Amino acid sequence: MTTRRHWKTLFLGLVLVLSLLACTSKEQSTPAPVQTSASFDTQQSIAELMKWVIDPAADAIWDSVSWVSNEKGTKANAPKTQEDWNALRIQAGILVESANLLMLEGRAKDQGVWMQQTRNFGLQARKNLKAIEEKNVDKLFEIGGDLDHACESCHLKYAKDLAAPR
Ligand code: HEC
Repeated sequence: MTTRRHWKTLFLGLVLVLSLLACTSKEQSTPAPVQTSASFDTQQSIAELMKWVIDPAADAIWDSVSWVSNEKGTKANAPKTQEDWNALRIQAGILVESANLLMLEGRAKDQGVWMQQTRNFGLQARKNLKAIEEKNVDKLFEIGGDLDHACESCHLKYAKDLAAPR
């Protein structure tokens, strides 16, 4: 009798443990709440994003390489130390990420040309980042021009009254 009760208690205990385990694993497999676009803060206008984030980062990249000519020839004024390159890499990173910010619902002006223009801008920003990581001054100078085209091409379509953004 005592033994049978023991078995019964043991069995009930086992059921309890198993059901607790089942509950826990069920909780763990519940996906985290889905982030909806409504949770993005897009109050910062496109003009502010341009003035405060994109333009300063692009300027840092454009200003990083210049050519100085004298009687001895032409010399590139470019980042020298690892710290210089690291500082520049931050600016390129800001530009790469800014392309995503321009595509957010609430910022994107349409799902067609705007997205194409923004993707192209992001692509040029990434090429700049690559040139910076390779410390390739010639490439950085050349791709800086392509970045400029990407800005202007979008402005021509969406900000016509913008004369020279730089
Ligand atoms: C996908 C489109 C797009 C791209 C790419 C883009 N811009 Fe703009 N930019 C705009 C629009 C639209 C405006 C006008 C915003 C407004 O006035 O509402 C603007 C405005 C500006 C302004 C003026 C902000 C002000 O009101 O004072 C500057 C400066 C600027 N952009 C710089 C840049 C630079 C630099 C780049 C490239 C590195 C760039 N933009 C890339 C769409 C773009």
